[in-house]
Amino acid sequence: MANPQIEKTFPRGERLCATEEDTQQAAHDLAACLGTHAILSLEGPMGAGKTCFVKGLAKALGCDPREVSSPTFTLIHEYHGGRLPLVHMDLYRIESSADLAPLGFDDYLAGEGIVAIEWGGKFAEELPPHTLRLVFSIEGSGRLIQIQP
Ligand SMILES: Nc1ncnc2c1ncn2[C@@H]1O[C@H](COP(=O)(O)OP(=O)(O)OP(=O)(O)O)[C@@H](O)[C@H]1O
Ligand SMILES: [Mg+2]
Repeated sequence: MANPQIEKTFPRGERLCATEEDTQQAAHDLAACLGTHAILSLEGPMGAGKTCFVKGLAKALGCDPREVSSPTFTLIHEYHGGRLPLVHMDLYRIESSADLAPLGFDDYLAGEGIVAIEWGGKFAEELPPHTLRLVFSIEGSGRLIQIQP
């Protein structure tokens, strides 16, 4: 893995999280490795823990994690008040990459803070090369988070 700091928090590129708290702790540990302009693509099936992970990111950055929810009608949320702004997107309902531009997608990607994109894998070709892909999977009652190279 390119970043040795991340390798420390995700040994061999993965973390097995037995509980929601573990998932939030994984986000907390990763956040310490992230600076401005970090983009995270959060991939994996429904209920795999992507939103839970974003709550952990918000908490780690000093934003209010209680504000973090699954964006239902609003596809993009911004959280301020922390070390870095956090932008949280959920592209589950977006059907075509042509629908991204009207949302201001490129402006968000070019912004200062950390951008966490649930279902980002649907539009992988629209994401910049420095995007960190995190793939979530359900492992029994726990969740596995794997960083894709
Ligand atoms: N280890 C774990 N980490 C995260 N969530 C867990 C874990 N174990 C159980 N859960 C449960 O799994 C669900 C994860 O929900 P979450 O909204 O984070 O999923 P999601 O990946 O965002 O789904 P969606 O694609 O529908 O947005 C929650 O109900 C949570 O309580
Ligand atoms: Mg979600």
